[in-house]
Amino acid sequence: MKRSTLTTFVSLALLLSGSALADDQTLREKAARAGLAPLPETVPDPAGNPVTPEKVQLGKKLFFEPRLSASGLISCNTCHNLGMGGDDNLPTSVGHGWQKGPRNAPTVYNAVFNRAQFWDGRAADLKEQAKGPIQAGVEMANRPDQVVATLKSLPEYVTWFGEVFPGEDDPVNFENVVKAIEAFEVKLVTPGAPFDRFMNGADRAMSDEQKAGLVLFVDRGCTACHNGVNVGGQNYFPFGLIKRPGADILPPEDKGRFEVTHSASDEYVFRAAPLRNVALTAPYFHSGQVWDLKQAVSVMGTAQLGAELGDAEASQIAAFLRSLTGVAPQILYPELPVETAATPRPQL
Ligand code: HEC
Ligand code: HEC
Repeated sequence: MKRSTLTTFVSLALLLSGSALADDQTLREKAARAGLAPLPETVPDPAGNPVTPEKVQLGKKLFFEPRLSASGLISCNTCHNLGMGGDDNLPTSVGHGWQKGPRNAPTVYNAVFNRAQFWDGRAADLKEQAKGPIQAGVEMANRPDQVVATLKSLPEYVTWFGEVFPGEDDPVNFENVVKAIEAFEVKLVTPGAPFDRFMNGADRAMSDEQKAGLVLFVDRGCTACHNGVNVGGQNYFPFGLIKRPGADILPPEDKGRFEVTHSASDEYVFRAAPLRNVALTAPYFHSGQVWDLKQAVSVMGTAQLGAELGDAEASQIAAFLRSLTGVAPQILYPELPVETAATPRPQL
């Protein structure tokens, strides 16, 4: 090979490999500018609720405790199954007496990063949120006084609450129940997704198809609503901003945030769904009517952007969304106290 040809060859090779690296770095910067970010290593304690290891352990027991429900059968984990992406994979949840609820269960993983809880953001934080399902007639159908009576009938809980909330006269109370559950939920984060590893510098953590999907996710405007560390969960938008989906996907009776604010402009407004682990949490939308992630992407294109995404584009974006599947914490299933003569009996 002539020397000049060799030089050209070498510099071309350098240029190519250099530009591949630069492309990854450019993509990272593009994603960051669009408001996307890797999950943080640590989560700050929720306001007014310092997180201690003992509180987390108590919260874990309560999360798996079916006796928080009137039937003694339904725990938080029934609908937020931690082995199944933190949800129940049903269109809408089934609760007390086999009743169907009106909405799809979102995942509890990374919920701590959401600006507010529920599809309509009606609970400000996880502590407030946890009071809802325990009392909802179609969920656990219980009452705070009954929950406290149940826990007080189980001596182990009395000891644990005393240890976790020292110096309180009457530590077994409803407020402390939800504080402990919140402390456990703060630990339900899933770092280490291919997207996070890519954002933290590992060029090869995402496939080329996933990277192409990320480019589209930003360029097509998905990040206008799905941004932040949880790729959503930050703000409210009309579902059907450009074109309202059919009544199967957007049932007319659920007006979303309107029920919270009673402002006409909030009709059919919902929180932009957080998209972390979305590959694990079908079916999609608050109605739970779409099982296929690619189809959910296409629905979003039409409804929110007025764009008919091509088949290849929808596939690439779905591939990117699969790069948001992180590593769930290892959770040892807790031993729960055995009932006593004083424990309220199941009401089925
Ligand atoms: C019968 C099923 C069921 C049970 C039991 C249940 N949930 Fe839920 N959960 C749901 C549904 C459905 C929603 C969404 C409701 C809505 O948005 O109106 C939800 C929403 C949530 C959210 C909000 C997540 C987000 O992204 O907004 C959290 C957190 C949560 N539940 C935690 C809990 C905890 C903690 C318990 C136990 C105390 C519990 N849930 C019990 C079905 C259930
Ligand atoms: C104008 C704001 C907006 C834009 C733009 C937008 N979304 Fe959404 N997205 C939402 C809202 C709001 C929801 C919740 C809809 C509901 O109530 O079910 C949602 C839900 C979703 C869901 C369902 C998640 C689940 O857990 O059920 C997916 C997937 C999704 N969006 C992907 C995308 C993609 C991909 C794009 C770009 C093509 C996009 N979105 C653009 C606001 C938006």
